Amino acid sequence: MKKLIALLLAAAMCASMAACGSKTEEPAAPAEAEAPAEDAEAPAEDADAPDGTEAPAEIGEFTTVTEGILTMGTNAAFPPYEFYDGDDIVGIDAEIAGLLAEKLGLTLEIMDMDFSTIVTSVQTGGVDIGLAGMTVTEERLENVNFTDSYATGVQVIIVKEDSEIASADDLEGKLIGVQEGTTGYEYCSEDYGEENVLAYTNGATAVQNLVQGAVDCVVIDEQPALSFVEANEGLKILDTEYVIEDYAAAVSKENTALLDALNAALKELQEDGSIQEILDKYIKAE
Ligand code: ARG
Repeated sequence: MKKLIALLLAAAMCASMAACGSKTEEPAAPAEAEAPAEDAEAPAEDADAPDGTEAPAEIGEFTTVTEGILTMGTNAAFPPYEFYDGDDIVGIDAEIAGLLAEKLGLTLEIMDMDFSTIVTSVQTGGVDIGLAGMTVTEERLENVNFTDSYATGVQVIIVKEDSEIASADDLEGKLIGVQEGTTGYEYCSEDYGEENVLAYTNGATAVQNLVQGAVDCVVIDEQPALSFVEANEGLKILDTEYVIEDYAAAVSKENTALLDALNAALKELQEDGSIQEILDKYIKAE
């Protein structure tokens, strides 16, 4: 058993070092046969996945920023995808990431950051994945890869209850509040002119500014919109779907092995209904 642990450890270490080469074919075994068994001070749990289950066969070798950990970058001001419950970051993305990490035999660690810095953080190796209700866009695809999509997002328009704005057509010449670095910002700048768009660090601040009358509306993803409207008196969501989008996890272009592993895990979680279960838990049916 010790030997097996040593082998697994050495293989894992090898996998985490680029110098080892990326091909798993490379006979790593001979080298670590020399590793003294007592070196394997590894607790037994390292040999097995936390719950005792083996990682599924199709999840191959991959590396992470910190060995044994799946580091997720998010912006936790985006309920129900990610938000604070006391000191904990919870929500759809947090739960999905938890299951993905488990499938990959990793421990999840969540880092809260400005939304606009997540893609760069994925690119530069600050985090392994960006999971933040993040829309797959052409522009982002130039810098990162995306996993298969796990949810659909809709950009909606929040206005004051007595607003004269009734549809996207009425936004012409109005001041639009958005969250910095989001697709809402991109679309509105394109459609209505950058000078008419005010970007706030997070959605809640944008909504606060709508309440105070600093902007005429807020364009943001539907689910957080619902929760912001619920938390603030006198607001409503227009009955228009401004843009429909796909959410996915961003992964470094350098780490296609992790991308493949995440997609394999995601597929399993989709097939066994776990993803839907999480979505249903947080998203109320209309
Ligand atoms: N779906 C939008 C985008 O990708 C907004 C996402 C904002 N997410 C967040 N966690 N703040 O640009």
